[in-house]
Amino acid sequence: MIVTIDGPVATGKSTVAKKVAERLGYIHFDTGAIYRCVTAFCLKHKIPYQNLTILNEALKDFTFEIVLKNGIKHYFVDGEDVTDHIRGEAVTKEVSHVSAIKLVREKLVSWQREWAKKEGNAVFEGRDLGSIVFPKAELKIYLTGSDEVRSLRRYNEMVQKFPEKTFTLPGVLSDLRERDYLDMTRTVSPLIKAEDAVEIDTSSLTADQVVDQIVDLAHARGAKDR
Ligand code: DC
Repeated sequence: MIVTIDGPVATGKSTVAKKVAERLGYIHFDTGAIYRCVTAFCLKHKIPYQNLTILNEALKDFTFEIVLKNGIKHYFVDGEDVTDHIRGEAVTKEVSHVSAIKLVREKLVSWQREWAKKEGNAVFEGRDLGSIVFPKAELKIYLTGSDEVRSLRRYNEMVQKFPEKTFTLPGVLSDLRERDYLDMTRTVSPLIKAEDAVEIDTSSLTADQVVDQIVDLAHARGAKDR
């Protein structure tokens, strides 16, 4: 069974998708992390990604790896561990622009479909999994949440992850709104709720409550626990 979890920034997609996958014994793919890896690659090699010919050539050398260390996924680009770097400011600022490029999306979508074929059972999270990548997924979830709750979540996460940096709540809120706007209004595969997706408003729910709802829905559609 393929379970897709889409939604805007900081709706808890990653936490929820990881836990749902654990409960069902499925593999978990965080597709946003891969768009971030491509962005880190472009920044490192100073690729003028607006130039599609140069980008296409450069992407032929893009390699990445996911390595599990003590139960935590580590992302490697060019053999370098970029797990923290891809969550930092530089990549976060650029990723909405890189992920809006058709050429980038075509490559990543084709990889995602190959992984799904290989795994059979998986939880995929991102922006376009239910609408574009897996239109026939057995279970599609669309997470939402108020801007205020989502920005507080993101603020707490960033403070914890980068204690040496200074963040402000209004700053985080405005970045979050800007990124949602770019993701929702881009021409190629904008963030939208698939017609047959189940919407869950996470504003006043804990991650575990959201997980329970999704696992119940997966069971109802035939998934077994691990
Ligand atoms: O989920 P995230 O914040 O790590 O995603 C990073 C960016 O990648 C986000 O701005 C939108 C983009 N993205 C996308 O366009 N399609 C996906 N399937 C996943 C992420």
